[in-house]
Amino acid sequence: MGEKSAAPLLELKDLKTYFKTDDGIVRAVDGVSYTVRAGESVGVVGESGSGKSVTQISILGLIPSPPGFNAGGEILFEGEDLLKKSKSELRKLRGNKISMIWQDPMTSLNPFLKVSRQLIEPLQTHQGLSKEEARAKAIKMLEKVGIPAAKERFDQYPHQFSGGMRQRVMIAMALLCEPKLLIADEPTTALDVTIQAQILELMKELREDTGAGMILITHDLGVVAGMADRIIVMYAGRVVEEAASKELFAAPSHPYTVGLLKSVPRLDRGRSERLIPIEGRPPDTSKDIPGCGFAPRCPWATDECTKEFPSRKKMSDDHYVHCYRAEEVYAAKLGTHASAKHVEKIEQGVRNGSTIDPATGDLNG
Ligand SMILES: Nc1ncnc2c1ncn2[C@@H]1O[C@H](COP(=O)(O)OP(=O)(O)O)[C@@H](O)[C@H]1O
Ligand code: SF4
Ligand SMILES: [Mg+2]
Repeated sequence: MGEKSAAPLLELKDLKTYFKTDDGIVRAVDGVSYTVRAGESVGVVGESGSGKSVTQISILGLIPSPPGFNAGGEILFEGEDLLKKSKSELRKLRGNKISMIWQDPMTSLNPFLKVSRQLIEPLQTHQGLSKEEARAKAIKMLEKVGIPAAKERFDQYPHQFSGGMRQRVMIAMALLCEPKLLIADEPTTALDVTIQAQILELMKELREDTGAGMILITHDLGVVAGMADRIIVMYAGRVVEEAASKELFAAPSHPYTVGLLKSVPRLDRGRSERLIPIEGRPPDTSKDIPGCGFAPRCPWATDECTKEFPSRKKMSDDHYVHCYRAEEVYAAKLGTHASAKHVEKIEQGVRNGSTIDPATGDLNG
């Protein structure tokens, strides 16, 4: 793990990114706050549509406007608010201090240009290297990301590389300018499992080498398990739980996180243990959401839950949750060590009106 300094590299403060649509205002990101420290890897998880990508695109200053707009908050990068920067200042930051790895490599790669040109140019522009220096550095990076015969393949076009190799080229491109912050949005979703594992391992090594901070976005908690120091769980445009990785997997304290854990394939559980998807769908953020947005799907929901959005509770160091019943969920120990049977028994009990004894974690009544 890289060095962690005290001041955060990135600090999101109550960030709001909305979209004006025919159906009303979509509150895609609705008051999101979290930090990323230098050298730290932060995983952002949540179902599709929870606002993970819109948050990152806001950081990059690439929200299409209209229909998108900033409705409040701050994005402090090295202490400076990116929302106050000009377009040209933001362009300078992107691909330099802040780099992005997209799900589809062709978002970053131009199909009509040789890989060599696409890697050399940013080095000349951002770092003022000569063509020869840039060429040497780029080839070295391609070797580092595991592209065989990098020198020979350097002058090929993106389509001459396989999917996994293209992903590596994109990672090389993202890392070339030694970014301080690396954002990876579902970087391996399109790849087969073996290549996924290789790419994730590679990103981890390179990050540890350079000490960059990283945000890894995924809908799959399994992906961040070995990769993230800390995990942010998003639901309907908001952060609902945040904790160190180990703590989150051991003691999830938001019923939605418990639901996500149940729906992750687990190598350590027997084949007989089936994956249980969370029933229902996330709310439409263009409609008013009274109270906790998870309430219609939540086995723990009570009348209180639909009145006001629950405030932030501290469970332990670095572990925060927005849930009225967080103490009970925490006490019931519904993390990855719990069997699906145990989780189901607890959820059935609380659905029928029982509570959890915070001391023992057992069902009352
Ligand atoms: N250009 C847009 N116009 C309207 N709504 C948008 C636009 N882009 C994203 N959204 C909405 O913002 C919400 C969050 O999307 P997104 O951040 O992409 O989710 P995630 O990455 O978590 O799957 C979704 O409801 C999506 O429909
Ligand atoms: S606040 Fe209520 S509805 Fe929301 S997750 Fe907690 S128990 Fe469930
Ligand atoms: Mg997304």
